[in-house]
Amino acid sequence: MPEDNLTVKLEIKSPKLKSRFEKILRSAKGFNIQGPTSKGLSNLLIFELGDKVDQEFQFVQDLLNIGEVGEVFFVSDHSDQAVLLQAIRIGAREFFSLPTEDEEIKHALKAFKERKVKVQGTVSVKDGKIINIIGSKGGVGTTTVAVNLAVSLAEKKNVQSVALIDMNLLFGDIPLFLEIEPKYNWSEITKNISRLDDTFLKNILSVDASGVCVLPSPSYLSDQNLATPAIMERLLLVMRRMFDFVVIDGGQSLGSISLKILELSDTLLLVSNLTLPCLSNTNKLLRTFHDLGFPPKENIKLVINRYLKKSDISIKDAETTLEKEIFWTIANDYQTAVTALNRGKALSQFAPREAITNNFRKLADQMISEPKKQEKKGWSFLRRH
Ligand SMILES: Nc1ncnc2c1ncn2[C@@H]1O[C@H](COP(=O)(O)OP(=O)(O)O)[C@@H](O)[C@H]1O
Ligand SMILES: [Mg+2]
Repeated sequence: MPEDNLTVKLEIKSPKLKSRFEKILRSAKGFNIQGPTSKGLSNLLIFELGDKVDQEFQFVQDLLNIGEVGEVFFVSDHSDQAVLLQAIRIGAREFFSLPTEDEEIKHALKAFKERKVKVQGTVSVKDGKIINIIGSKGGVGTTTVAVNLAVSLAEKKNVQSVALIDMNLLFGDIPLFLEIEPKYNWSEITKNISRLDDTFLKNILSVDASGVCVLPSPSYLSDQNLATPAIMERLLLVMRRMFDFVVIDGGQSLGSISLKILELSDTLLLVSNLTLPCLSNTNKLLRTFHDLGFPPKENIKLVINRYLKKSDISIKDAETTLEKEIFWTIANDYQTAVTALNRGKALSQFAPREAITNNFRKLADQMISEPKKQEKKGWSFLRRH
């Protein structure tokens, strides 16, 4: 494993101590020290305890729980047992009581590195593509596209693993599309965020007939099962390591979680129908993405679902209005789509020879050949978190 990617955040107030840690980290090699303003996940937090120990422990515990930091080492003047116990209780891996020897710190960093390599060695690490699907309006076929694209991808010989995540909180219906009865949903993830690793996820996902691993949304809402952007980020980064493709049914939401997903996705498929209200919404969404600064234009692909050759509005009209190419069309075939849905079958299973099914197969080919998004600098470490 390339070793320059373990990120370390230093929350150390005294400048002298901080520079001592920086020096040790630099000489130990393989560590990337994050600046004080840097956001995102860190593999390790080294935290100096001050006078408000209870508050500080709470702060660190929250970071561990939401998965913003992977491990924590404490540094402290106090060597009192109660403090030490509390540190152990929240899951600290090391506790350096000052003064401490450089050797002791180096030894702890070496052990930390070895733990990471061990975890890394047990799984085959992928660098999957995240495909996010959102609809310009309810009912345009977002879920139909997400489900059938995921299944079509899973059926390709050169694709080993596909995950499908339902982000429609409360109204997620993917299990109905695939006739599965998942035992777990989102709430399990939010409750167990600190345990979120490959093994845990493998246990939680339900597998459909084609081999697609499904993570459904909770069917009721409470403050217990609401995800946060940080949890979503962690989830997606773990999933990207495990699957060739992570397909997300993003529904119509543009909340903070959806924005985080947009930021992390390689491709956004924006699903629309050739109707005036849908195209008008598509236009608004494109302008919104432009103003937000992401996703980049080239990563947004317009998909026209329920396409009829003789429709009132032509593809060309739509392209002129939207000032963007239509990337893909999927035939209108209500009979097939609805019957497959009512039987809980993917199209390739229920109607393998229909044009609509073929549209999905070829869309899957396109997604396979689509290049991955150019990553922003500084993101690569997250994959190894
Ligand atoms: N290409 C299509 N042709 C005909 N009907 C479709 C097509 N795609 C989806 N549908 C139907 O449209 C309805 C809404 O689809 P759904 O995927 O649930 O939309 P959304 O997730 O955007 O609300 C369903 O009854 C579905 O069977
Ligand atoms: Mg839907």
